[in-house]
Amino acid sequence: MTTIGVLGAGQAGATFARAAVGAGYDIVIANSRGPHTLRSLIEDLGSRARAGTAAEAAAAADVAFLAFPYSPSHELPAQELAGKIVIDNNNYMAWRDGNFPEVDSGAATIQELRQRQLPCAKIVKAFSHIQFHERIPARVPDERIAALLRLARPRGDADRKALIVSSDYPDAVAFVTRLYDDLGFDTVDNSPLAESWRSAPGTPMWAASVDGQSRDELVQNLRRADILSPPRRRRPGLPPHRSHHRCPIENRTS
Ligand SMILES: NC(=O)c1ccc[n+]([C@@H]2O[C@H](COP(=O)([O-])OP(=O)(O)OC[C@H]3O[C@@H](n4cnc5c(N)ncnc54)[C@H](OP(=O)(O)O)[C@@H]3O)[C@@H](O)[C@H]2O)c1
Repeated sequence: MTTIGVLGAGQAGATFARAAVGAGYDIVIANSRGPHTLRSLIEDLGSRARAGTAAEAAAAADVAFLAFPYSPSHELPAQELAGKIVIDNNNYMAWRDGNFPEVDSGAATIQELRQRQLPCAKIVKAFSHIQFHERIPARVPDERIAALLRLARPRGDADRKALIVSSDYPDAVAFVTRLYDDLGFDTVDNSPLAESWRSAPGTPMWAASVDGQSRDELVQNLRRADILSPPRRRRPGLPPHRSHHRCPIENRTS
């Protein structure tokens, strides 16, 4: 069974781990303070989950999931993540993370900065526009459950929702598509990473992070992002996948 190394054990990391364990994945989860702070979470997640340091979670991972904001000052386990698919669910929120001029100007998306930070990994933006936390106040009692768990539906269900994936690596898109399906969601491919501004906070699709959207609605909403004024619109018409990134570690470019 696939082991997912989850780096970040807050709202997003812990809820993702719960959903992934429920779908039969093995999890090694880490935060910044150390595995001793994750005992009760591991008890809750059960035998498919264990805690580790960030480097241990990255080393154990067949695929990694980064569940913390981007910062250029982070020291990430780049060697352990080299060659691996790395899911990044971060959203650029300047009020929280500070301003990144390249993103503000439209010269790069926040996930392109992450790809540069981990040039040997296969960065894929996913799980970025679905709520991982309880919603309070809730309109109905069921709504207290995180949307990732509450909106999950079996394949073929008329009410199934769709989530986006963006990457410069087709195998990363294919993996996330299977993972979404296992967790109860359809996929809309919004590759490459340069196009991922279409799913940033404030775009038309963003408003559906609580109630979800069907595949067709998500496709429409991604298109409607064109109404945004420059610099939030950028480089339309790119091919779906671009060439691989320059990786300084030998034999890690594929
Ligand atoms: N919450 C949501 O509903 C939601 C929805 C969509 C996307 N997201 C995205 O998910 C990410 C996390 O959000 P959150 O709400 O889960 O934040 P959070 O509750 O503050 O959790 C952040 C977690 O990341 C850990 N962490 C920070 N730096 C780390 C590092 N270098 N290595 C390993 N772990 C590290 C923290 O560990 P310590 O506590 O030990 O410092 C904490 O466990 C954000 O980028 C956000 O944009 C969140």
